[in-house]
Amino acid sequence: MTTPPVAGPAASGAVGTRPPADAVHVRVPAKVNLQLTVGPRRADGFHELATVFMAVGLYDDLVARPGDGVTVRTVGEQAALVPDDGTNLAVRAALALAAATGRDVHAPGAGVRLAVRKGIPVAGGMAGGSADAAAALVACNRLWGTGLSALELVRLAADLGSDVAFPLVGGTALGTGRGELLEPVPCRVPRHWVVALDAGTLSTPAVFAELDRARGDAAGTWPAPVPDADLLAALTTDDHDRLAAALTNDLQPAALALHPGLHATLEAGLAAGATAGCVSGSGPTVFFAAPDAARARRVADALGASAAVRAVHTAVGPVPGALDTVGPARPGPATDGLLED
Ligand code: C5P
Repeated sequence: MTTPPVAGPAASGAVGTRPPADAVHVRVPAKVNLQLTVGPRRADGFHELATVFMAVGLYDDLVARPGDGVTVRTVGEQAALVPDDGTNLAVRAALALAAATGRDVHAPGAGVRLAVRKGIPVAGGMAGGSADAAAALVACNRLWGTGLSALELVRLAADLGSDVAFPLVGGTALGTGRGELLEPVPCRVPRHWVVALDAGTLSTPAVFAELDRARGDAAGTWPAPVPDADLLAALTTDDHDRLAAALTNDLQPAALALHPGLHATLEAGLAAGATAGCVSGSGPTVFFAAPDAARARRVADALGASAAVRAVHTAVGPVPGALDTVGPARPGPATDGLLED
């Protein structure tokens, strides 16, 4: 199922100048990494990356309303997997915004009640937790009238996690550093993807650790990662096969080593007619390229019959990020289950 993003004004400097609202809704997309090249492990434990993110039409919806302190409630099929305490990344994002703007969230009504409906797989390698943090930043900035610019929000996001800045901006972007330094990348035509969610989860640190284990002594001196010129060029054309051939993920062997069942999912998607398949981020979600909507549907139907696959979605990308979808929370399908107390 593919849902269009909620309509909203384009992200611009104006994000900081809008008046506060009573209840704010943000729709935030999942990401896939079309390239994920992992360089040396740094002294801080992170790895240098060259990655091409694409925001795809699989969403979490977040509603922010005034509250005392910062609380979060999660609904959706995988809600039980999401913490509701201070370790929730959306809570940390709201607190970071409050700290950065000198807001006392414990003053009566000056905090926020966040409600999130998960459409993005939890611990699936599609930046679902990071997406919620990005959505919380945008929503609270609007709810509280704290007036940070898009650039200031991106900076706050980068401090919260390597993948938090991207879902703010969406579209297609090159990420460097540990993934948080973003540069927009032109993408000529919308692309069709099939996303196969796995029944299990994989821990991102565990997958990076497995990569380091396989690299052994060379992990710290691995060559610096470079953007894939062929992938970037393919995105500026409508040549589907060229793009499909350029998909790469250095974390894939590590994800497959920790979760060998993913081999069967990759094979099933390719056998059903996908032009390429790749583990998404640190997995275990697997995504496939399809030249058109009909082929994507066929691949999705075939994967849906596979026992190892928990759910399958078709999605188009690129789609806009959280900054482009913020608006008042109105009752309707997008906020269903999120406006109740
Ligand atoms: O930044 P984030 O909290 O999303 O990263 C989660 C974990 O993934 C890190 O603690 C680290 O183990 C690993 N990671 C990494 N190099 C990156 C990004 C993440 O090693 N560039």
